[in-house]
Amino acid sequence: MTMYVLVTVLVAVLLMLLLRRFKSRRICLDAKRLDGKTVLITGGTSGVGRETAIALAKRGARVFITSQDEQKGEEALQHIKRESNSLNVRFLNLNMANLQSIRNFCQEFTKNEKRLDILINNEGVPAVLDWTENGFSMCFGVNHLGPFLLTNLLLEHLKRSAPSRVITVTSNVHKYPKLDFADLNYNIVPLFTYCRSKLANVYFSQELAQQNERHGIFSCAVHPGYVADDWTLQFSFLFRIVMYIFTSMFFISCHAGAQTVIHCAVSDEVLQHNGGYFSDCKPCKLRPHVQDLGIAKKLWEASETMVGLTSSPRQHLAAQTK
Ligand SMILES: NC(=O)c1ccc[n+]([C@@H]2O[C@H](COP(=O)([O-])OP(=O)(O)OC[C@H]3O[C@@H](n4cnc5c(N)ncnc54)[C@H](OP(=O)(O)O)[C@@H]3O)[C@@H](O)[C@H]2O)c1
Repeated sequence: MTMYVLVTVLVAVLLMLLLRRFKSRRICLDAKRLDGKTVLITGGTSGVGRETAIALAKRGARVFITSQDEQKGEEALQHIKRESNSLNVRFLNLNMANLQSIRNFCQEFTKNEKRLDILINNEGVPAVLDWTENGFSMCFGVNHLGPFLLTNLLLEHLKRSAPSRVITVTSNVHKYPKLDFADLNYNIVPLFTYCRSKLANVYFSQELAQQNERHGIFSCAVHPGYVADDWTLQFSFLFRIVMYIFTSMFFISCHAGAQTVIHCAVSDEVLQHNGGYFSDCKPCKLRPHVQDLGIAKKLWEASETMVGLTSSPRQHLAAQTK
């Protein structure tokens, strides 16, 4: 009997040590301030985005968060102001599932704001099977085409504020699929549509770096880690309980999840890895098929056609304001 108890305790301790090691993450140690800088974080109402907003507002940046939901946006805004002790935080309405909403947003933002130093493409939907208002698969539309159009329409502002940065939040599940150019709107198995959209994030950040390095724009993709947040809320009660137990064992906090995003927003070390992929506050190697710059370019061109961005972004914005 004593033997059984001893073995059980030993296994439990080993399991806890293993879990601690599995969950341990680096934190951003760069204390650089961001006074005078403007930061736009898409979807800063919860999770990684909200934690990042708090951290960057604490460093003195003027921070914008966005949401498709006025009330959620206002609540998050109060929370971020309280936690950061900064009043220099704003909320703007933006629905990334609607291309017109993105165009209206960029028109307003560029009219009212003189600069944009750091753009964080953070918003995202989990693995869902749905369609956007423009008829794209929800994951591909919101997770890739939305940030693609937004970044392009804000490019002149980023160039004017150079050296500037664009950080696109992806996931390490990007490495499993390949893109099927005959069916970019693939919408059959939820997890696969999500993985493909996160692969598109990595290609997007690479091609953005290729095209804009000479303009002083740094671009990278970040895997935040597996973060325990509100993403299970849309599922059934039973599934949420199971997920709660699972996530509290294996997932990290939103604070920990935000660290690599903050690191890429402030650290000068990252600048030598333009177009790179970061996880746990360090650059990471990509699988060979994800390093294919030909695919990144092809995706860029296909995305331009899909969002109707065939003219230059400057002409595009000018056309809207007429
Ligand atoms: N959580 C993880 O384990 C994990 C792992 C790897 C990668 N990631 C990535 O990390 C990023 C942040 O994830 P998170 O876990 O912090 O997610 P989250 O807490 O669910 O936050 C997602 C944000 O996206 C916004 N959003 C969703 N749909 C939108 C739409 N149509 N238009 C505008 N905004 C929209 C939400 O804003 P509103 O609903 O207020 O509009 C919310 O602020 C995502 O890109 C995600 O794919 C997360």
